[in-house]
Amino acid sequence: MKTQLADYRTDGACKIPLSNLDVSEGKRFQDGSIWGYFERLRREDPVHYCQDSPYGPYWSVTKYRDIVEVDTNHKTFSSEQGVTIVDVPDKHWTQSFIKMGPPKHREQRDTVSPIVAPENLTKLGSLIRRRVRTILDGLPRNDDFNWVDRVSIELTTQMLATLFDFPFEDRRLLTYWSDVAVAMPRTGQPIDSWDKRSAILSECLACFARLWNERINAKPRLDLISMMAHSPATRHMEPSEFLGNLILLIVGGNDTTRNSITGGLLFMNQHPSELQKLRDNPKLVSSAVSEIIRYQTPIAHMRRNAAADTIIGGKKIRKGDKVVMWYISGNRDDEVIEDADSFVIDRKNVRQHLSFGFGIHRCVGRHLAELQLKILWEEILKARLEVKVVGEPQRIASNFVHGYSALPVRITG
Ligand code: HEM
Repeated sequence: MKTQLADYRTDGACKIPLSNLDVSEGKRFQDGSIWGYFERLRREDPVHYCQDSPYGPYWSVTKYRDIVEVDTNHKTFSSEQGVTIVDVPDKHWTQSFIKMGPPKHREQRDTVSPIVAPENLTKLGSLIRRRVRTILDGLPRNDDFNWVDRVSIELTTQMLATLFDFPFEDRRLLTYWSDVAVAMPRTGQPIDSWDKRSAILSECLACFARLWNERINAKPRLDLISMMAHSPATRHMEPSEFLGNLILLIVGGNDTTRNSITGGLLFMNQHPSELQKLRDNPKLVSSAVSEIIRYQTPIAHMRRNAAADTIIGGKKIRKGDKVVMWYISGNRDDEVIEDADSFVIDRKNVRQHLSFGFGIHRCVGRHLAELQLKILWEEILKARLEVKVVGEPQRIASNFVHGYSALPVRITG
């Protein structure tokens, strides 16, 4: 199995003049060569201006402390023009609370956040455990299968169906819509135009509009649709804002946890001594989960635009400039995280990572994501499952969702 890291001094990352260095190309995230580019930027130009890219000019913020500074200053660094590097054409723009500032952001966030309040997480915990056991029991023995499909997608999509109280048998539609929503339309890809993307997502909207209409006429319940239908902050949303919030919740609850589940299995295979540590001391499971989420960094970046002239890392940023916070790079910044390129499940300050962001938009679902991973690993350990990776992981060609489409594995014991 190929290792994840490359040495930027010996690979292509050192050959490009700094002024031409553009880290946005999805292919580099797919083939794993991106690490060298970020290492070079952290060392030579931590706040880097790229004049010419497929997404127009943008700043890359690559070091941990600078990223925290941007993420925690929502007045100067606004999310209102979008949170990914791509500029969505006006015709296809959907509003959602991650693209808002106070007070509307807070009101809408508060509408949905009770779904992940501690008392509900306790209830969800027993459901997740039952589901994990069923999924693990149903896996083939001594035969190759795709961990992404059978475990990562299945577990997270079941959870999402529960959060929305979405028809359980149709749950894979949620996975499909999530994949369509994060696709950046390109010729030659299944989603090759913005029109196609919007046409598919309008089917998503129509389906959820039916659920909304049922629930608005019923008593309020603890599911995301009912909560939005009954809250003053969300019940008068335009359809495109409803769709935007659906996409936010679907992608938030889906791709991120899914890719942490896959990454975790891959990393434990690549670092057998860490897996042994966990087997010897299962109490390390929470710490291991945080390390998995740091090491994977399922959301590679978030984007902001400067609302005023400002300075970050000594660089002058002009009002209106696009600023990309590369969490994936900040999580490997060894000025803050000791030996950051190594996977160490019992490292000091293991929760000190950027994967969930910071500031007013810090991930709503983080405790639920951690809970799902924790229960999965507890059950893998209890069942003494030996899950071996038997082929190369297939990574997604995306600079936003850092993840996998396939991970071939075999249960040998
Ligand atoms: C926001 C990552 C799981 C729902 C975010 C942000 C990141 C993130 C980076 C933006 C933070 C910022 O801009 O400062 C992750 C990761 C996850 C995960 C790595 C799993 C390992 C989930 C789950 C849900 C969820 C399970 C839903 C059930 C959301 C929502 C927001 C968000 C609604 C927007 C918050 C706001 O704008 O106030 N997440 N997420 N996430 N996440 Fe997550």
